Amino acid sequence: MGTRSDLGALMLGLLVGFCLVFQCSATLWDANALLVVNGSIRKMPETLFGVFFEEINHAGAGGLWAELVSNRGFESGGHHSPSIIDPWSIIGNDSLIKVSTEASSCFKRNPMALRMEVVCDGDCPLGGVGIYNHGYWGMNIEKGKTYNLVFYIRSLGSVNMSLSLTDSTGMQPLATTNIIKNDVSNWTKIVTKLEAKGSNSNGRLELKTDKKGVIWFDQVSLMPTDTYKGHGFRNDLFKMVADMKPAFIRFPGGCFVEGEYLRNAFRWKETVGAWEERPGHFGDVWFYWTDDGLGHYEFFQLAEDLGAAPIWVFNNGISHQESVDPAIIMPFVQEALDGIEFARGDSNSTWGSVRAAMGHPDPFDLKYVAIGNEDCGKKYYRENYLQFYAAIRKAYPDIKMISNCDGSRVKLDHPADMYDFHIYSDARTVFSMANTFDRTSRVGPKAFVSEYAVTGDDAGLGSLLASLAEAGFLIGLEKNSDIVEMASYAPLFVNTNDKRWKPDAIVFDSSQSYGTPSYWMQHFFKDSNGATLLNSTLQANASNTLAASAIVFQDPLSKKNNLRIKAVNFGSSTVSLKILIDGLDPNLLDTSGTQTVLTSANVKDENSFANPKKIIPVTSLVEKAGRNMDVVLLPHSLTCFDVLMKSGIAEITSTTEDKSYISSM
Ligand code: AHR
Repeated sequence: MGTRSDLGALMLGLLVGFCLVFQCSATLWDANALLVVNGSIRKMPETLFGVFFEEINHAGAGGLWAELVSNRGFESGGHHSPSIIDPWSIIGNDSLIKVSTEASSCFKRNPMALRMEVVCDGDCPLGGVGIYNHGYWGMNIEKGKTYNLVFYIRSLGSVNMSLSLTDSTGMQPLATTNIIKNDVSNWTKIVTKLEAKGSNSNGRLELKTDKKGVIWFDQVSLMPTDTYKGHGFRNDLFKMVADMKPAFIRFPGGCFVEGEYLRNAFRWKETVGAWEERPGHFGDVWFYWTDDGLGHYEFFQLAEDLGAAPIWVFNNGISHQESVDPAIIMPFVQEALDGIEFARGDSNSTWGSVRAAMGHPDPFDLKYVAIGNEDCGKKYYRENYLQFYAAIRKAYPDIKMISNCDGSRVKLDHPADMYDFHIYSDARTVFSMANTFDRTSRVGPKAFVSEYAVTGDDAGLGSLLASLAEAGFLIGLEKNSDIVEMASYAPLFVNTNDKRWKPDAIVFDSSQSYGTPSYWMQHFFKDSNGATLLNSTLQANASNTLAASAIVFQDPLSKKNNLRIKAVNFGSSTVSLKILIDGLDPNLLDTSGTQTVLTSANVKDENSFANPKKIIPVTSLVEKAGRNMDVVLLPHSLTCFDVLMKSGIAEITSTTEDKSYISSM
C-alpha cells in the first residue's frame, strides 16, 4: 500500500521527468551529466571524518613531537655495553676523548648512561671536546627562539662545560651558554635555556669541555619553548592537522601497536610519567627507535587540543608473529583497563592519579577503543577479543569497542559497536569502492574506515590521481553514512628522510611541510561532519568516471547554512554538469556562490618542497548560482560548489531516496 511519502515521491518524479523532457531540455542537450538534488536524507555523523596518527615514518619522534634530541637517554642500542649511541657522536678524536655506554643511570627503567672521558689536559683543541647530537636529520634552530635544554650529569670532579647549538659542522655557533658545577658527584639535573642568534635547519647540539676528567650524561632533552600551547607539538605540523578539522584522532597505530614481536609493541605504561623515566622502545615494524616523549598522555592531550575524539588502539596480546593464548590473556586485558582508567579515571584512582600528576586532573574524553589492529585473521583473535570486550563493557558500559573483523559483507560473529575497515589499492579500485557499503546490512555495528588510501604506482609519493580516487570513495561513504560512522586516511605524516610508507598526507622535514593532494582532498570533506546529506542522483554518459554528493552544512563562523555540491571528474574529458536543485524555493539560494577546484595539468602530478602548492584547492566566484546551475568539471578534478542559503534545509521537501524517476539521457 502506498504511503504519503511514496505518493510524494511519485509526484516529484513525474515533475522532474517533465522538467527533464520539456522545460530544461534546451540546456541539457549541451550537458554530459545531470545531477538532481531533491531532498534531505539524514544528518551525517558528527564524527564522520577524522585522522589516524601512527608513529610511522617518524611522524611523532622527529615530527609532530618537537623534541630535537634523538636517543636522549642512550638507550637505543639496548641494555648492553658497549652499545651503539647513534645519532650521538664525538667532537675530537679518540686520543682526546673516549665515550662508552654504561648501565649506571639513576633512572631504573632506562639504565644506560654515557660515560665521557676527556683525556686532553690543557692541550684540548680550541672550544674543547665533547659530544653532539644532530637529532632527526638536523635540528631546526630559528633565530630569536628559545630552546629548553635539560640533562643529567655526574662527575667525580667539578665540571665546566659549554653548551651550544651550531650548524651541522659545528663551525657556526647559533646559541651558547656555559655551566660550571663544583659538586655533581651525585646525578644532577641541569636546566638551562639557549637563545638562538642565528638560524639553521640542519643544526646540532654540542656539549663540550676542555677539562680532563670523566663526566656521565643521561636524559638529554632539547625542546623549543614555542610548541603548541607549550604541549610539545610542533606548531606548523599541529596546524596542518588542526586545519583539517578532524572529528576524531585514532592513535598510536597501526602496526606500531602490534609490533613484529610483542616485546617491541607500543606498551602504554612505559610511555607515561616523567619523560626522563620512560624507557623508550624500538618499533620493529617501522624499524626505528622512539624515546616515547609522545606517549599515552600526550596522545590524549593532542586529541583534546585538536578538539577531536580520541580513539585508542591498544595492543590485544597479538603481534605480527605472536598471539597470546586465551588462557593467559588477562594481564593484557588488565593493561587495557588500566589504560582506560588512565584516561578517564578520577584523579584519586590508581591510574587517573598518574594522569593528574602529569598535569591533567580532569579526565580525557575517551569514548572509543579499538581492540587490536588488523588482527581478525590471527590466531586467538576472537577468543581474546571476547575477554577484552566483556571486561571493558562491564567496567565502562558507554565505551564503544571496535572489532578488527570486517562486517561490511557478512554479519560479525561477535559483539562490537563498530568494525574496522582498511583499504589500500590502486586508483581505479578505490574509486569504484564508493559503492562498497551500498549492499551492507543496515542492522548491526557500523563501519570505521580507519585506513584508506590509493597506493602503488598510481599514488607515487602522493598524486592528484590518488586524491581523486579517494574523493570518489569518500563520496560513497557520505552516502552510506547511515552505517559508516568514521573514516580516516593513512598514513597522516612522513618525515621525508624516512619514507617507510608512501604516500602520506603531510610531508615534512626539520623545518618545512606541505600537503599532498590527498591532504587537500580531505579539506573538501571537513564540513561534512554533522552536515545534512541531500538526496542526489547523477546521470551521465560516463557515469563510471563521475561521483557527486550534495550536503547542507553550517559555516562554523557565520553560522549560516551552505549548500555544497562536490563532484569528482575521474576521467580525462571536460564534463559539463547541469545541477538541478529540486523542491527548493529558488529565492532561498543566493544567486552567486563559489567553486573550489583541485586539479593539475597531469594526473600524476605531485606537490614537493620545491613546489608545495602545485596542487592545492583554488577558489573562485560562480556568478550564476541558484536552483539551476551549469558548471564545468575539468578533466581529472575534484570540485566543490558552495552556495549560501538564506534559511535552513526544510524547504527541500522530498525525503525519498528513490532514484528511478530520472529518465536516462
Ligand atoms: O598505514 C600503514 C599501515 O597499514 C598500518 O600500520 C597498518 O594498520 C596497515 O597495514
